Amino acid sequence: MNKPTYYITTAIYYPNSDLHIGHAYEAVATDAAARYKRLRGYDVRFMTGTDEFGKKIEEEATKQGKTPQQLVDHFSQSAKEVFDALDVSYDVFWRTTDPRHVAAVQKIFNKLYENGDIYKHSYEGPYCTPCEAFYTASQAKEAEGKCTTCGRDLTQISEEAYFFKMSKYQDRLIKHIEDNPSFIRPASRALEMLNGFLRPGLEDLCVSRSTFKWGVPVSFDPDHVTYVWVDALSNYITGLGYGSDDDADFKKYWPADVHILGKDVVRFHTIIWPAILMALGEELPKQVFGHGWINVDGKKMGKSLGNAINPMELTDTYGVDAIRFFLLREISFGQDGNYTTEILINRLNSDLANDLGNLLSRTVGMIDKYFGGTLPSVQAPTPHDDDLITLAKATAPKAEAHYDALEFDKALDAIWALIGHSNKYIDLVEPWKLAKEEDKQDMLAGSLYNLVEVLRIVAILIEPVMPSTPAKIYAQLNITGNTNWGDASHFGLAPKEVQVAKGDAMFPRIEKGVK
Ligand code: MSP
Repeated sequence: MNKPTYYITTAIYYPNSDLHIGHAYEAVATDAAARYKRLRGYDVRFMTGTDEFGKKIEEEATKQGKTPQQLVDHFSQSAKEVFDALDVSYDVFWRTTDPRHVAAVQKIFNKLYENGDIYKHSYEGPYCTPCEAFYTASQAKEAEGKCTTCGRDLTQISEEAYFFKMSKYQDRLIKHIEDNPSFIRPASRALEMLNGFLRPGLEDLCVSRSTFKWGVPVSFDPDHVTYVWVDALSNYITGLGYGSDDDADFKKYWPADVHILGKDVVRFHTIIWPAILMALGEELPKQVFGHGWINVDGKKMGKSLGNAINPMELTDTYGVDAIRFFLLREISFGQDGNYTTEILINRLNSDLANDLGNLLSRTVGMIDKYFGGTLPSVQAPTPHDDDLITLAKATAPKAEAHYDALEFDKALDAIWALIGHSNKYIDLVEPWKLAKEEDKQDMLAGSLYNLVEVLRIVAILIEPVMPSTPAKIYAQLNITGNTNWGDASHFGLAPKEVQVAKGDAMFPRIEKGVK
């Protein structure tokens, strides 16, 4: 039987500097969703990459005394290294300077031109160069001449250019957003798009530039290069072979199940991109999810603000799974989150060192101490088992519902509720007292077995977020089977005679003062 497909993407990153933890956050969240779907049996295509054209890149290259190609080669490689270091399991890393992408974008542009959706016209108006964004006169006035995304001054540009008939698609776009409440998530962002941009009226979009060269040339008018957002957004289909001789992947995976991106670029993905797809006669992505920003002191983390945190330094200091966990647990997906070292250390100490780490080390330690490392097969229930087992069985369906909705923090919350309950279970059962009574040995063994089972279930359920941790848990508990996703809904699958192998603390406590 063919597996159902799932196509998920991140935005593509500007390779003009090293990525910071805000970029990494998006890639890690997308990765957790991709891993989850793979564990659920989907044929997943997870694509990420770099957005390599545009004036901003050209200017940065000049500043650094490099060619644009040298600049993007360097920083796209560095982006890949960050994603690899964070265990981001992309299937395709797509670069917009790839000749296959360039050829496909030219075909897209030609098709829109031939169909009459692109026309030539003289343009004059406000523009934000760092964001490569056009403004109408009224938008610029309302924004007092500043870019609403980055806050910098808009400049007046004047040139002959090609325009895309975006206004033609306004009514269809409004209807699509109104008819499909899950098209834009969170819902608040759909309202922002409707009220802020669509209902006030769309103007045609300038889709070519002729004052610089670093872009995809318009094939029939090479003085012009394609507006970078048209080129960039097209990556989601060119990376599947759209417009090439082999578009089998496009046929298989399109439409995307979800594009994941930050709230600052929702506008491009929910207005320009769907309008282009409508003009091409292609289906729209099923969902666009606009996540929040990682802020430092209330301001968006970014290179220009000098508050960027390097993801590699964090993974080197705290470990990959710990950082992935922190990003997805601390911030509710869709909302902004604040980053400080203190918030990070507190979260890792409480949830990983104290809760999960302790549960494992206590369980392994007690099996070791009371039974020489191997649980006896004769086991008896304790009066506290029902609550624990009921919660353990209910945890997988809860986590699944949250993972399905991209509510990573809530999925982790549900899993940590089980971990918390299990630590309390130990306090209620008081194994150290049972150990002293000869006729309570079966009960003692039964209680420790229950903890092993909880850990097996937890290990399965955390895998999308913490891909390396489950193997460490299984190794200490000597669990070699029943670790598929579906096995998390069943209690009692581990062999009774668990044989443990004590290991190092999985998540040692981080002392204050450590970076
Ligand atoms: N190249 C465009 C996207 C084109 S998609 C067809 C771009 N690049 S970017 O490098 O500036 O940003 C890439 C992604 O990272 C965007 O989704 C953006 O919202 C996200 N983030 C950048 N800084 C961020 C934070 N501080 N916090 C969270 N996400 C952040 O935009």
